[in-house]
Amino acid sequence: MLDKVTRLLQEAEGFTPKSEKELEEFRLSFLGKKGVLNELFVAFKDISIENKKEFGQAINKLKQCVQSKIEEFKDSFDEENYDDEIDFTRPVSLDNLGSRHPISLIRKKIVDIFNKIGFTISEGPEIEDDWHNFSALNTPKEHPARDMQDTFFIQTNPDILLRSHTSTVQVRYMDVNNPPIRTLSPGRVYRNEAISARSHCIFHQVEGLYIDENVSFADLKQTLLYFAKEMFGEKTKIRLRPSYFPFTEPSAEVDVSCNICNSKGCNVCKYTGYLEILGCGMVDPNVLENCGIDSKKYTGFAFGMGIERIAMLKYGIKDLRLFFENDIRFLKQFSSI
Ligand code: PHE
Repeated sequence: MLDKVTRLLQEAEGFTPKSEKELEEFRLSFLGKKGVLNELFVAFKDISIENKKEFGQAINKLKQCVQSKIEEFKDSFDEENYDDEIDFTRPVSLDNLGSRHPISLIRKKIVDIFNKIGFTISEGPEIEDDWHNFSALNTPKEHPARDMQDTFFIQTNPDILLRSHTSTVQVRYMDVNNPPIRTLSPGRVYRNEAISARSHCIFHQVEGLYIDENVSFADLKQTLLYFAKEMFGEKTKIRLRPSYFPFTEPSAEVDVSCNICNSKGCNVCKYTGYLEILGCGMVDPNVLENCGIDSKKYTGFAFGMGIERIAMLKYGIKDLRLFFENDIRFLKQFSSI
């Protein structure tokens, strides 16, 4: 009997499984209900008293050897397991899913709204020259309106600057395209402003330009009303206030009814019932001429808005700096949008 145990022990010690199946067969043949160890424990009862100790120790040793073999090899065939057991229909874990930045979300929304009425996208450089940022836009050197936008100039060459608005792209677009023109220019702009809850030296704009025969101020108003309703809801009203921009005449500033208090007055709209969202106007004939467009034949309108401002109103964000800090806790809130 003891010989049998010694033989089995040698067999177990020398065992190296080639597959998970082989390991399982090994386990069953030793530890299974009908396995050899059970048989040996049954046989143990009939062993004479004087041999019991030696026999008992031998079968315990065998059992331990078998168990440690199983332990040693049980993870070696994981890849096989993987192929057999992975459930390809299981939904992926959404725990660490990223989110779009709120500025990208609003930019996309604005672009989508204007795409629907035929506006295409145009882009241009962020490092610009004086002509495209100012002079072509009816703001020649020494014009006081240049102070409206505190501009970053390159010290060694004041002709080069960081664009202070994306109207620059409209100039470039008019240079190479003939009317009818319907284009939208989203992009990053720079102004030398102190960083606070309401302003930053870098921000994002979307500007729009529409030029054709017989374009009127009524077209501008209707286009902006359509935009406001799509952006802030069907019940939104707009209000135009006379304003001044060197590149448009007449010019206006546009407010939307406050959707937080339904125009009743709250601290967001400072109890006025309205929130300012953009500047606009009819393109000044000088600008058209500067860009090679016949101002006797064509008229057009332009508008420009800050994406941060729209995002703040849309999502109820009170501090513009949050957009630039990239705090995961802030950004995560936009993951389901
Ligand atoms: N360019 C202006 C700004 O940045 C916005 C604007 C665009 C106003 C087009 C009127 C027409 O403030």
